[in-house]
Amino acid sequence: MSSYESEIKRRRTFAIISHPDAGKTTLTEKFLLYGGAIAQAGQVKGKKNTRAATSDWMEIEKQRGISVTSSVMQFQYEGFCINILDTPGHQDFSEDTYRTLMAADSAVMVIDAAKGVEAQTRKLFKVCAMRDIPIFTFINKMDREARDPFELCEELEKELGIDTYAINWPIGCGKEFQGVYDRQNRKVIHFTSNTNAKAATATEIEPDDPALADLIGQGKRDQLVDEIELLDGASCEFDLDRVRHGKLSPVFFGSALTNFGVEPFLEAFLRMTTAPLPRKAGDEVIDSFEDSFSAFVFKIQANMNKAHRDRIAFMRVVSGKFEADKEVYHVQEGKKIRLSRPQQLMAAEREIIEEAYAGDIIGVFDPGIFSIGDTLCAPGKKFRFDPIPTFAPEHFQRIRSVDTMKRKQFLKGVEQIAQEGAIQIFKTPYTGMEEVIVGVVGTLQFDVLEYRLRSEYNVELYKEGLPYEYLRWIVKEDEDAPPIKEDELLLPNDAKLVEDYKGNQLLLFSSQWSIQWVQERNKGLVLAEFGGARF
Ligand code: G4P
Repeated sequence: MSSYESEIKRRRTFAIISHPDAGKTTLTEKFLLYGGAIAQAGQVKGKKNTRAATSDWMEIEKQRGISVTSSVMQFQYEGFCINILDTPGHQDFSEDTYRTLMAADSAVMVIDAAKGVEAQTRKLFKVCAMRDIPIFTFINKMDREARDPFELCEELEKELGIDTYAINWPIGCGKEFQGVYDRQNRKVIHFTSNTNAKAATATEIEPDDPALADLIGQGKRDQLVDEIELLDGASCEFDLDRVRHGKLSPVFFGSALTNFGVEPFLEAFLRMTTAPLPRKAGDEVIDSFEDSFSAFVFKIQANMNKAHRDRIAFMRVVSGKFEADKEVYHVQEGKKIRLSRPQQLMAAEREIIEEAYAGDIIGVFDPGIFSIGDTLCAPGKKFRFDPIPTFAPEHFQRIRSVDTMKRKQFLKGVEQIAQEGAIQIFKTPYTGMEEVIVGVVGTLQFDVLEYRLRSEYNVELYKEGLPYEYLRWIVKEDEDAPPIKEDELLLPNDAKLVEDYKGNQLLLFSSQWSIQWVQERNKGLVLAEFGGARF
């Protein structure tokens, strides 16, 4: 195998998803610690302080103490080169969070053992599931009082519609948490609490070894034997192929804070996942091992340096090798370019890099030429990767400039920020150009918009909250058909027809009920939950 092939083969690119506070940051930190990318716990964590250091370019982020953007971290572990895509878990997450998932080949879903599936887990899961990527479940905080493990697995299956297979099974919880039973090796792994060391100390013992009762107590031993029997009888077979197609989620129990089960989880995860996955470009499938370079842009981060109004475009390398000074072809612009100042995040550090391989995420300086979803490839090739879907915002406001004389700056700013993908903007045939309806996935983006318009465009906003919560794209069978007029549709009072700036027509709704109402009464009207891409 060439060194080029082995570089690609050893790469794994995954996202960690969870509801806020389930332990995503703690788990990420433990991974980095095992990989030697950080020397001690607490370097990445501390959302309230250290994390902001990687992106302290935005005042508002510091003020609110949360990360508005998603970051990417690379580290090495036992010969693997791992790229973790971090998705902001706070309530005010953004469309960027969803888009980041488009760059991942698999996802690790962290669940709080006391809480089970929560709102944000559901949303992020849905986006992963639509691409059928493998989803691994880590049920965290077993060192605290937890819900019954059978109940937790059942909830995952019912709520998320995915089968589960427990790779290990917990022995007790809270203060009584003794370790796990490894179902594949048929061994009990008994842990000793250890918060600070690299990994918890573990003793392996066969379940029928009489010494087990001494170790964990007769009651726990009997309960474990019963539960294993129940599990073996009731759960579905482990099928790696179904895992790789996102149909079966391997479930692990542990505690990120105390290191219980974290390293075995990482090892099993690396064993079960594959090298970077291919991507579709229309009728073509671009394999990661192809020898020519290709990548797509999935995120644009504005204002890394406020003085220059510059941006960083994040791209996922899909195939081949990226070399810093080589020319690449930017398909959407039809131009050959050199990507300047390519950089990668290593733990909390930003580094200028010379090369990257399929699976890697690189950030390049963007003078304003890139858009979300753009394709870059070797000169001579012209394919376009399938578009990244547009995700439906859930919060809407009507906005305009307080000072009507500043209409031009207002529109320029709003359009620019929308192009970066932080917000979506809409117009209605009746609002003219002064007013814009803005939609966001997380409400913090409203604050970001207001802040940026004030500080970069000198525009004060007039804002009015709108009651809508759902957005659906109107799917046109015939691209050339004329736009639908409002009076051609039967709409309830709480629904509204709008248009985006690309001319797509959409409907805003304030309830699920009214979506149903519209679908029942407007036969032939096809509504889509995502814009741009079909899965
Ligand atoms: P997030 O990124 O998913 O939002 O969660 P994060 O890792 O920040 O963890 C949220 C809280 O849960 C933190 O406590 C963290 O220490 C705790 N935690 C994470 N994993 C475990 C675990 O396995 N067991 C227990 N008992 N706690 C866990 P905090 O007090 O909110 O933050 P901090 O003051 O410790 O930073």
